[in-house]
Amino acid sequence: MSTVVKDAAPADIRTVVRERYGQIARQNTAGCCPSDRPAASDCCGPARDAIPAKVIQLYETPDVAALPGEVTELSLGCGDPITLASLQPGQTVLDLGSGGGIDCFLAGRRVGPTGHVIGVDMTPDMLEKARANKARLGAENVEFRLGEIEHLPVADATADVVISNCVINLSPDKPQVFREAFRALRPGGRLAVSDIVTDGPLPDAIKQDLSAWAGCVAGAWDARDYVAAIEAAGFVDVKLTPVYMDKATIAEAADQLELGDCAGISAESLSKTIFSAKVVAYKPA
Ligand SMILES: C[S@@+](CC[C@H](N)C(=O)[O-])C[C@H]1O[C@@H](n2cnc3c(N)ncnc32)[C@H](O)[C@@H]1O
Repeated sequence: MSTVVKDAAPADIRTVVRERYGQIARQNTAGCCPSDRPAASDCCGPARDAIPAKVIQLYETPDVAALPGEVTELSLGCGDPITLASLQPGQTVLDLGSGGGIDCFLAGRRVGPTGHVIGVDMTPDMLEKARANKARLGAENVEFRLGEIEHLPVADATADVVISNCVINLSPDKPQVFREAFRALRPGGRLAVSDIVTDGPLPDAIKQDLSAWAGCVAGAWDARDYVAAIEAAGFVDVKLTPVYMDKATIAEAADQLELGDCAGISAESLSKTIFSAKVVAYKPA
């Protein structure tokens, strides 16, 4: 990667992020049975019935067991916004960066036939995958829209609850994302987010690495700045709770991103700085 973050415009960052998640979506479909993974879908053998271990670790809700492998295998989150959201039947939910749709389908089950779920994602390949999953599940109360979370394709005061799972760290303009979430929520509505944040600054070598940005590391904000940006957008009662990742998870992520090579930073020192967080906030009634 020749461009580093400090020279990259927000549009460049979005392009790198879109390319990365487009590639992940394409591998999950067109690749069909990548060599290092078990048979994942009908087109390459029997449908899988095992839920990936990562999904079992992330989600408290037992509803994940009802989802097909095509959905759980494309789970790229870092927490369980569904449990945080306390959804009720009939509510409208907006998912920022819906990916393959896992949280939209879980939300759809909670809000039921009188509720509605809108997933927004800027990566066309991801959207295609999510829509195929919607058809597979017959999830009539779920829809997916192409768009950027900094410019949400929804009217003001549309949602009772805005959720997001491991996406806002990827945005080059987080304050704008929180302003848009605020606009899209009805008064009294809830923001329920799982995301990656930091405790203090990341090493420069990581912060400058665009591929580490796309891998949910370099774009992560200090937890205090993250909360301040949510409050600046108008939210109240903002609560951020750290969910520390175990060393093995950090080591795996660092390995995948080749952070050891590019930054000379150990997974151990990274695990002290970067973590997943549960965030809840409210739009005043
Ligand atoms: C780490 S994945 C998480 C997907 C999903 N939330 C999940 O838990 O599986 C990030 C997703 O956010 C989308 N995304 C990243 N930045 C975005 C932006 N600025 N606007 C809209 N979508 C974005 C990507 O296309 C990708 O599908």
